[in-house]
Amino acid sequence: MIKDITYINQEIVSKSDINTEFYNGNDVYIETYGCQMNVNDSEIVSGILVQHGYRIVDDISKSNIVLLNTCSVRDNAEAKIMHRLAHLKAYRKQNKKLIVGILGCMAERLKGKLIGKQDLVSIVIGPDEYRKVPELIEQAQNGESGIAVKLSKVETYSDIIPLRTEGFSAWVSIMRGCDKFCTYCIVPFTRGNERSKPFPIIINEVIDLQKQGIKEVTLLGQNVNSYVDLVNKADFAKLLDEVAKAVPEMRIRYTTSHPYDMTDELIEVMANHQNICKYIHLPVQSGSERILKLMNRHYTPEYYLERIEKIRFMMPYISLSTDIISGFPTENEEDHQQTLYLMEQVRFDGAYMFNYSPREKTKAYKWTDDVSDETKKRRLNEIIDLQNKISKENNKNEIGRIHEVLVEGASKKNKFQWQGRSDTNKVVIFDNANLKYQAGNIVKCKIKDSTSATLFGDVID
Ligand code: 5AD
Ligand code: SF4
Repeated sequence: MIKDITYINQEIVSKSDINTEFYNGNDVYIETYGCQMNVNDSEIVSGILVQHGYRIVDDISKSNIVLLNTCSVRDNAEAKIMHRLAHLKAYRKQNKKLIVGILGCMAERLKGKLIGKQDLVSIVIGPDEYRKVPELIEQAQNGESGIAVKLSKVETYSDIIPLRTEGFSAWVSIMRGCDKFCTYCIVPFTRGNERSKPFPIIINEVIDLQKQGIKEVTLLGQNVNSYVDLVNKADFAKLLDEVAKAVPEMRIRYTTSHPYDMTDELIEVMANHQNICKYIHLPVQSGSERILKLMNRHYTPEYYLERIEKIRFMMPYISLSTDIISGFPTENEEDHQQTLYLMEQVRFDGAYMFNYSPREKTKAYKWTDDVSDETKKRRLNEIIDLQNKISKENNKNEIGRIHEVLVEGASKKNKFQWQGRSDTNKVVIFDNANLKYQAGNIVKCKIKDSTSATLFGDVID
């Protein structure tokens, strides 16, 4: 969700202060679902709207225009939006002028079928057509529905300044789309072909962010390590190397990467720069060679483990997370055991774990979804239980270690206990009763306790 309050140079300013250059009287409320790409896309849409005189607000009751930026990756992500639309009908009763638009992957997948949904939706815009958001809002205000869902081979929104709202960390999208066509995945169909933002534009963007006081950037893409700028002869390893050199004061992260493109050069660049965070999200999906082949993942469990070995050899204290799908078509007990075995071997610090969800248009959709719901559920629970056990044990090993923590703010439970993130992307809670530390500071914390999800530390000077 876009927040109304943003931190700039440690001063709190209301978003309306930075939003009102030529206000056209229209307030827009944007709700974001799904991955970080969608979070950044909502910032891009906000940037486009502000350029056209709109104001972005965080209170639905203050706006006549509601945009839902949606996800299609699993059926339950879409069900959530349908549910939300039913809920939004109540607002329409209070506010007859309310305009509702669907953006993102669901817009691309369902296109015109969304128009008129719940007697509400009059705008449908796919991920490559966000420049048309102001035009389609105007059209909707004149009573006409509008659809814009063409995918582009070139659109990267390179010239748009995203309206960022997330404190001292910023997302920088470096590429869009995906050409991998994993057989279960809808993304290549909803986000189109891979294309990369020009190298010099990314370098300038991170330098600008550093000047604005941002302390951490995450380079974003569906598949960042297949980034390529042929004109400037830069692959992802080169880009990361140059970004790290361009903003030595900033912490640099990236997500998501594909094991197939996790080259030696990339691992070496990570190891060579102190300001590149020692954390990699590297989705494995399954530990079975047979299932990985059916998924069209282009690697074997052996190859994946060899990459992990190389990563750990170069960066022994790195933190690793992954994605796992349980119950892919034809997955049997042996395949499932191989996934558990791979998890034991790697000992990930964290994992996003899902039941397989058939998606129309994908190759796997044509295959029978033959693992029963009951079996899927049981296998997923086994995967989750194992991961929780490993996360807990890994975090226990953190006790006594010192981490550099980027301070985010007060923790949810206790206003004297503040939280931040370690370079290894773990949440660290520490005492800040006298408010000595502020959001955006980097503090050194010695870890004294842990759970499967959180570290607790003391700040040491
Ligand atoms: N069913 C379940 N999980 C999926 N993912 C992608 N497509 C599907 C699907 N059809 C998961 C993958 C991917 C993550 C973003 O979502 O694990 O890495
Ligand atoms: Fe989907 Fe595979 Fe592309 Fe990731 S790499 S977005 S899972 S097709």
